[in-house]
This record gives sequence, C-alpha cells and structure tokens, in this order.
Amino acid sequence: MRVLTGIQPSGDLHIGNYFGSIKQMVDAQKSGETFAFIANYHAMSSGNGGEKLAKLTMQTATDFLSLGIDPKVSTFWVQSDVKEVLELYWILSAFTPMGLLERAHSYKDKTAKGIAANHSLFSYPVLMAADILLYSPDIIPVGKDQIQHVEIARDIAVKFNNQYGDILKIPEFQVQEEVQTVPGTDGQKMSKSYGNTVNIFGEEKKQLKTIKKIVTEAVPMQEPKEYKECNVYNMAKLFLNSDELLELQNRYTRGGEGHGHFKLYLADVMWEYFKPYREKRDYYLSNQDEVREILKEGAKKAQEVALPMIEKIRRVTGVKY
Ligand code: ADP
Ligand code: TRP
Repeated sequence: MRVLTGIQPSGDLHIGNYFGSIKQMVDAQKSGETFAFIANYHAMSSGNGGEKLAKLTMQTATDFLSLGIDPKVSTFWVQSDVKEVLELYWILSAFTPMGLLERAHSYKDKTAKGIAANHSLFSYPVLMAADILLYSPDIIPVGKDQIQHVEIARDIAVKFNNQYGDILKIPEFQVQEEVQTVPGTDGQKMSKSYGNTVNIFGEEKKQLKTIKKIVTEAVPMQEPKEYKECNVYNMAKLFLNSDELLELQNRYTRGGEGHGHFKLYLADVMWEYFKPYREKRDYYLSNQDEVREILKEGAKKAQEVALPMIEKIRRVTGVKY
C-alpha cells in the first residue's frame, strides 16, 4: 500500500503539526510505502517566494528528517525536483471543469483572509491532483480541510480515465479523526496564523517564555484545579504515558500547586521529549549538504515512478507524436 502526502514549507513547525500530522507520517513508515514531499510550488500560491521560500524548503526538509522521516524507508523529495508534475498539471487542467474549482473552499477561504486571488491559488487543486495522480498512491492521509482537494483529484482522474482508459489510479483519502486538535497558548486551535504556537525547535528560554503565556484559569494556589479543560494539561498529556498522566491529574486535584508549576513541568517534559530530535537536527544543520543529497536521491526515486506514468499519459493524450 502506498501512502502519499505533501507538506507546505510555510514556517516553524509547532507541536500541533507534530501530533496532528508529522508523527502519523513517521509511524506510517512502519506499515507501508510512504511518499512524502515538500510542496514548494504550492507555497508560492500564497505569496511565498525568493530567498525565504528556498530557506523554508531546506528548513522543513531538515526538520522532517530530524523528526523521523527515514529516507531509507520513505521516498522524500522536493516537489519542484520532479518537473513532470508540472506537465501533468497542464494536461489535467484540460480535464478540470471551471465549476469544480469555483466550488473549492480553500480558494474562497484564502481570498477571504486577504491572500491575493491569483491564478495559482485558484488552480492549486489541479497541481495537487497532479502530485497525487503522478505517483498512483492508494491513500492520502488528510486533515479535514484537505478532503475536498482529494475529491477534486478523484473527479479529474475519473474524467481523464473516461476518455483514455484505466490509466490513473483513483486515490482514497483517510481522515485522521482520532487526531485531536492541539490547543494553542490562547486555547484556540494551535496555528501559525493565530500566533499561538509552541514550536518544536527553538531556544529553551524562549520556549519557556511561550509556555508561561499559556492562558489558564485564575484559581488560588491551595485549591484543587480542573485539568480537563486546562490548556497546559491538554498540551502536557501529548507527551506523557498513562502513569505520568495520572500523577499530573493528581497534582491538579490535590491543590497546593499553581498553574505556574504545571507550566514548568510542561516545559521540562517537552524539552526532554524532543531532545533526541534536537540532537539529530543539530547534526543535519551542520551537514546541510547531506540533506541536499538525501533530497536529490529522493527525487530520483520519485522520478522512477513518475517517468513511466507521464510517458503513458503523453502517449495516450497524443502529446507524444
Ligand atoms: P498551520 O495551521 O500552523 O498553518 P498547517 O495548516 O500548515 O498548520 O498544518 C500542517 C499539518 O499539521 C496539517 O496536517 C494539520 O492537520 C496539522 N495541524 C496543524 N495544526 C494542528 C493542531 N492545532 N492540531 C492538530 N493538527 C494540526
Ligand atoms: N495542500 C496540502 C496542504 O496544504 C499540501 C499538499 C500539496 C498535498 N500537494 C499534496 C497533500 C498532495 C497531500 C497530497 O496541507
């Protein structure tokens, strides 16, 4: 079974990204064939570009490798290193009714947020369809916001196959229902766009400062405290085993400690949890050439799958004459 996913290089990774998505991808490596790429062309559609995009692409690749994407097991590459995807994007455009794109929520949401309504933002789902269909994956793990994009890819594939036969594999999406939404420092969903993130990598002091900002109830030190709705508890529980979790619950209910104590505990637990990943990251940061080499090898592996597919498509569509 082949699982495929794309990640936009859009900024510093936070613990919401880790528990909501990255950890799933790392764990998926145990059970199937995983294809993961950095969607740098997609990032351009929201106005990212230039030196910043190049830097974020390397940073995201470095972070994913540090967090457990294993290039020996996964095919891991940068989208723009396999140009065939752009050819397929154009070919699929001819199978994409305007109405299908006009109904896409993501375009409407992004323009409502003030992102310029350019063509790449509008045709984003067609490029995503090309990303998927070029590699014939079985499953695309997605957050709820990406379901419609996979449905669009399926619609486009069906239309193409209706004309040219059974060429494109119709992908299935898999929604990660069980993945909880990780709260941010203000209690809303943790997200870069809300400025409420606790980042995975960063200086210890800065991280502690962020954790100290987490919004909590005002309850006198001696009194028992609620843990179920507490943002500090809900972040801490991601890192704890069941015994540690029980112990933390007891500390809340027995009173005598303030939220400040729980915040210090969260900072410690998180710092320890990511320690091996930080060490790996330090290694990759001082060996960026090795990261580039891994990405180059990954692109080669991805291309081995992409080339026979695009050749077949060129033939049936008459692009090859
Ligand atoms: P952001 O909202 O910070 O821009 P992205 O939209 O780039 O994050 O999300 C990348 C991945 O991380 C997606 O798969 C998304 O489902 C997951 N993710 C992001 N924030 C959270 C969160 N607060 N809780 C759980 N998963 C999250
Ligand atoms: N649109 C996805 C996101 O913003 C990223 C992405 C691009 C993707 N191409 C993909 C995800 C192909 C899965 C499959 O999260």
